[in-house]
Amino acid sequence: MTYNIAIDGPAGAGKSTIARRVAGELSFIYVDTGAMYRTIALGLLREGIDAGNGAQVEAALPQIQVSIAYRDGEQQMLLNGENVSGLIRTEEVGNMASRAAALPCVREKLLDLQKELARTHNVVMDGRDIGTNILPEAQLKIYLTASADTRAARRQKELQEKGIPCSFEKIRDDIIKRDDQDMHREIAPLMQAADAVYLDSSDMTIDEVTEKIKSLVNV
Ligand code: C5P
Repeated sequence: MTYNIAIDGPAGAGKSTIARRVAGELSFIYVDTGAMYRTIALGLLREGIDAGNGAQVEAALPQIQVSIAYRDGEQQMLLNGENVSGLIRTEEVGNMASRAAALPCVREKLLDLQKELARTHNVVMDGRDIGTNILPEAQLKIYLTASADTRAARRQKELQEKGIPCSFEKIRDDIIKRDDQDMHREIAPLMQAADAVYLDSSDMTIDEVTEKIKSLVNV
């Protein structure tokens, strides 16, 4: 039987950084489910499809093949065989992903891939509905959050490091809008699972959060 750790939480809470670290230290694989939604979003953007039009999205999905590969232990996203890992990190793709992720046909498309990875590997899987929906039997569930200001400041720093200027207010507004969309959709909304451990990382370092999660693992 595999050991599964589910980490859910709002945009910019540091889930991927933490999940990657925890996975590395435990020799588990890190599964970034947001990247899967982003890959579908990129496919839709390339086809010029409006995420608000469910019928159009559903008709386009068979032409959007999403698969993953691992290179040096890092998850790579393939869209119709093309490695798009470097193209899915933009705000445009993130916002499109959030809109598309509200559609049942989009979520359905990724369900088996996510469940199968957890069935066959020890995973740290992060997303929005992992503890509540994808892996309700996960041995450890974390709900990782931080204040909107902290999350926006971290995101701004990341962008600045890449040489991309962006206003703090704009980033903060985008984050709040995306959280609102993710928390209030009908299907698989972001929420804390009843048995998840709540962690607010606003005043914690990456090391502290990593250690805290590792202390909760009981392999
Ligand atoms: O985590 P990330 O910002 O990459 O996720 C992009 C979007 O994908 C989220 O805003 C959310 O709408 C969607 N998502 C989801 N369920 C997941 C992971 C991501 O709905 N398990």
